[in-house]
Formats: sequence, C-alpha cells, structure tokens
Amino acid sequence: MEAEALLKVHGLEVAFPDRRGGQRVVVDNVSLEVGVGERVGLVGESGGGKSLTALAILGLVPEPGEIRSGRVTIGGIDTKEVPDCRGGVVGLVLQEAGSGLNPVYSVGFQLVETIEAHGIARGEEARRRALALLTEVAIDNPGPILAAYPHQLSGGQAQRVMIALALAGDPRMIVADEPTTALDMLTQAQILELLVRITDERGLGLLLVSHDLAVIGELVHRVVVMHGGRIVEEGATSEILRQPNHPVTRRLVEAAMRVRGGRSEAGGGAV
Ligand SMILES: Nc1ncnc2c1ncn2[C@@H]1O[C@H](COP(=O)(O)OP(=O)(O)OP(=O)(O)O)[C@@H](O)[C@H]1O
Ligand SMILES: [Mg+2]
Repeated sequence: MEAEALLKVHGLEVAFPDRRGGQRVVVDNVSLEVGVGERVGLVGESGGGKSLTALAILGLVPEPGEIRSGRVTIGGIDTKEVPDCRGGVVGLVLQEAGSGLNPVYSVGFQLVETIEAHGIARGEEARRRALALLTEVAIDNPGPILAAYPHQLSGGQAQRVMIALALAGDPRMIVADEPTTALDMLTQAQILELLVRITDERGLGLLLVSHDLAVIGELVHRVVVMHGGRIVEEGATSEILRQPNHPVTRRLVEAAMRVRGGRSEAGGGAV
C-alpha cells in the first residue's frame, strides 16, 4: 500500500465472559490498517464483530468485555503505552446520535468542552471554533444550533453535530459505526457525502463500519469483511465488488446489487 499507515491493528482479540464461566471470543485475531487519507469500509452481517472492533480501537469495549490481546497503533504510537493518544487522534461517530451526544448539555457546550479538553482553544476562541465546525458540517443556521439541546435536532442535524464533535479534537482519523443507519435515504446519502468531503479536505483516514455494501461501496477505497469475529476477506472495493470470494462477501455484494438495481443513483459518490 502506498499510503503511510495511520491506524494499525494487529492480532486484536476481544472476549466476553459466557454463562459457563468461560470466554466467548467476539473479535478474533483481527488485523487491519488505514492509511493517511484512506477510506476503509468494515462490512459484514449482524453480529460479525464490526462494532466491537471499532470500539476496541478506541479503547471503549463495554464491560464485562475485554481486549485480550492485540496491538493498536495510531500514527506510530501504541495506544497501550499512551492511552490518551486516541483522544485527539481518532474521532468517533456512532449510529444513534443519542449515544454520542449528551442530552443534558447544549450543542455549543459540548463542542466547546471538547475543544478545550484537547487544549485547542479556550473561551471565546473555542466558541468561534465551535461555530466554524458547525459550518464545516454544513449546518444551515449554526448560531441557534449552538444553543440547542440534542433532542431539539433532527436526525440529520444530530449526525452532523456528532461529526462536528468528532472533529473538535482535530483528529487524524474518523471511525464511524453505521453513522447513517437510522436516517432516511436522502439524509443518509448527504451525511456520507459530508464524511467523504471532510475526510478528503482534511486528509483524514476513515474507518466506515456498515452492514450494507450498497451504502458504502462507492465511498471507500478498500473493504474489509468480518464474519464470526474474523476477517474473512479484504481488498480494493472494485475487486471485491467484481469478484467476491467468501460466501459472506458474495451475499453482501448480491444484496448491494439488488438495492442498487431498485434505486436510481441515490448514493451520490466519490470515485
Ligand atoms: N455487551 C455485550 N455483551 C456480550 N456480548 C456482546 C456485547 N456486545 C456485543 N456482543 C456480542 O459480540 C458479537 C459481535 O457484536 P458486534 O456488535 O461487534 O457486531 P456487529 O458486526 O457490529 O453487528 P451489527 O451489524 O448488528 O451492528 C455479537 O455476537 C454480540 O452478540
Ligand atoms: Mg454494530
């Protein structure tokens, strides 16, 4: 790969205790890389381990789950040695804005707090940056949105705010887990277009998690397919779409073709 690796995951294993006092491995020896400015799709059927892989990269595996082994380096820094290195380096966007935004604080408060927490700016300057971030994510009327609370936002606005929040720490890459699944198709296309534009403009890496190859196929350079906690196939998106080898990949590609057949160019797209 020509691109310099930004994120390197090697031999990642995540397990949950099972009822019999044993361990259930849900992410099994996963290794992947995302280069500078590269967009990688992490796809697969439900329960395949995509979200836990994304969460593990961010050190956010929910209890009682645990990372049993593996190495995650971001920009060459081992996250085990410098846990804080993730903060300013990786921004996270989740499916439900509800789980990424705090319902009791205004949008402006959360943005300013994040900007300050990363030592990027303080006070009035942090506020100016918050406003600029809302403009960057194409929120029409950013002033009032700064003062709004998460429940006052539409689904699309909430996702834009979450992207702004992910950008607030000035990250080098974004991990987005099904960022548009809860949205209608038009809004979904707009949000994905936004993610692509912003990662392009800022030169960020993007790890885009989805169960739907139809949604992300045109947006990512490479696809990594997970099933049963393992990576079963990976390759350049065009290759994967043209010649899927693993049965799971084939199912995903067939499903994507069906969707695309029934839909007229809904997913605006890059490349
Ligand atoms: N908190 C938890 N406790 C126990 N098991 C869990 C927990 N969260 C996830 N799992 C299990 O880990 C496995 C992988 O889950 P994960 O959420 O990563 O899948 P996914 O690929 O993101 O699926 P989806 O497409 O439905 O989001 C599943 O079998 C799931 O049941
Ligand atoms: Mg998931």
